Amino acid sequence: VDPSMDLFSEVDKLRKEKNAIILAHYYQEPDIQDIADYIGDSLGLAEKAAETDADIIVFAGVHFMAETAKILNPSKKVLVPDMKAGCSLSDSCPPALFGAFKSKHPDHIVVSYINCSAGIKALSDIICTSSNARSIIDSLPADQKIIFAPDKNLGAYLNKVTGRNMVLWNGACMVHEIFSLEKITRLKQRHPDAKLIAHPECEDAVLQIADFIGSTTALLNYTKKDNSNTYIVATEAGILHKMIEASPHKTFIAAPPDNSCACNECPHMKRNTLEKIYNCLRYEQPELIMDEDLCLAARRPIDRMMEISR
Ligand code: 13P
Ligand code: SF4
Repeated sequence: VDPSMDLFSEVDKLRKEKNAIILAHYYQEPDIQDIADYIGDSLGLAEKAAETDADIIVFAGVHFMAETAKILNPSKKVLVPDMKAGCSLSDSCPPALFGAFKSKHPDHIVVSYINCSAGIKALSDIICTSSNARSIIDSLPADQKIIFAPDKNLGAYLNKVTGRNMVLWNGACMVHEIFSLEKITRLKQRHPDAKLIAHPECEDAVLQIADFIGSTTALLNYTKKDNSNTYIVATEAGILHKMIEASPHKTFIAAPPDNSCACNECPHMKRNTLEKIYNCLRYEQPELIMDEDLCLAARRPIDRMMEISR
């Protein structure tokens, strides 16, 4: 791409010409959030993907999110700016191993967090996201035995708030496990009025001292309504862009990682760039192609989630 090209207007032109919609997660770089037609958490993005009448969906997020969009709207062309944008949490749960694990618990149903591959979705009974997980679990009979996959931190949090004893798959997100309890505690001492807000993918020690726990959209909404001046934000740092935009008079501090070489940004989410979005819109590549039977099998538990959370 010619460096002098105005990528914002070129992307906008192509999107109109091709009747395309750009869906972006809050962890995307600011330029992508600014050009997106819709920014949201995983539930919002899935709902938007299901209802859009655009011909092309450009998914600025990670692979499992694009897969979910394709599963929900298979007649649409789903373009992915970078096919290598995966997810450490999704990768921590390979379908073959999970299938063997599931067969050891034949009287359990499987509730899976949406951050998993289509192969895991196809092995699940119900999907959930961080914004509806609690109500989905609560909707099940109290004596229902449940396997929760793949995030052990979200699973442990859900066990705590719902009083269940779900069997947990041992997966985790590389970004949300990196926060330093010690450094967050020191920050809280330096900013005694600051609220700590955390994503439920964080470890229990961080969640225990959090003032508010929720999905990315819930965290953003909390900072809009709450009347504190300072927030320590324990989730991927990309969300700060919208928080600062919505409340420019407030101070947002990204929760620090446990060593200075580590990073609170998701390397998968950050593979996407405005230039890659331009290229994928222009050449309509790379396109996400999925096996039809796999899509059908993975759709069932997502539909169940949509029905319950309606
Ligand atoms: P939500 O935006 O649904 O809270 O998910 C966070 C996340 O880690 C996505 O990868
Ligand atoms: Fe996956 Fe974590 Fe990145 Fe979200 S932040 S895409 S859960 S690795």
